[in-house]
Amino acid sequence: MTEITLHLNGTQAAHTVEPRQTLADFLRDRCGLTATHLGCEHGACGACTVVLDGQAARSCLQLAVMCDGRSIQTLEGLRADPVMEVLRRHFHESHALQCGFCTPGMLIMGRDILQRYREPDAQTIRHELSGQICRCTGYAGIVDAIVAAGREIGTATR
Ligand code: FES
Ligand code: FES
Repeated sequence: MTEITLHLNGTQAAHTVEPRQTLADFLRDRCGLTATHLGCEHGACGACTVVLDGQAARSCLQLAVMCDGRSIQTLEGLRADPVMEVLRRHFHESHALQCGFCTPGMLIMGRDILQRYREPDAQTIRHELSGQICRCTGYAGIVDAIVAAGREIGTATR
C-alpha cells in the first residue's frame, strides 16, 4: 500500500491506496464518488471523465498513485460551479440525457469546452466531444445544450 495526498473536491487529505488501483476505482469504491461512471475502462468512452489539475481527464487511465499531490474534481465537487449550473439547466431544457450513463462525463467535458472556447459552435463541440460516447445516441441534444450554455455565458460576460 502507498500513501498519497490528494486535493479532492476542495479538501486535501491523505489516503492509502494499492499501487495498481485506478483513479476511477479509487473515487468510486474508496470515496463513494459514484458520479464518475465506468464504461469501457480503457479510455475509449469518456464516461469516467474528471477534472485533473484543471483539465478534463479519463480517470480509468490514471492510477491513483500517479495523482499524488494533484487536484481532482468530480461531478459531486462541481455542484456550485457557475458554468456547471448553466450547463445542467441547458441539458435539462434540451433533453440532453436519456439513461444518463454518459451524462457526468458529458457535463465535465462540456465545462472543459466552455472554458477553452467562447461561444463554441456545434461543429467545434462535436469535434471536442468525439471521444465521449453516448450509448443512447443523444448527441443532438447534448450539442444543443452546450451551444446554448456557451451563448448564455458569452452574453452574460459581454
Ligand atoms: S471508462 Fe474511462 S474512458 Fe471509458
Ligand atoms: S444518455 Fe444514455 S448513454 Fe448517454
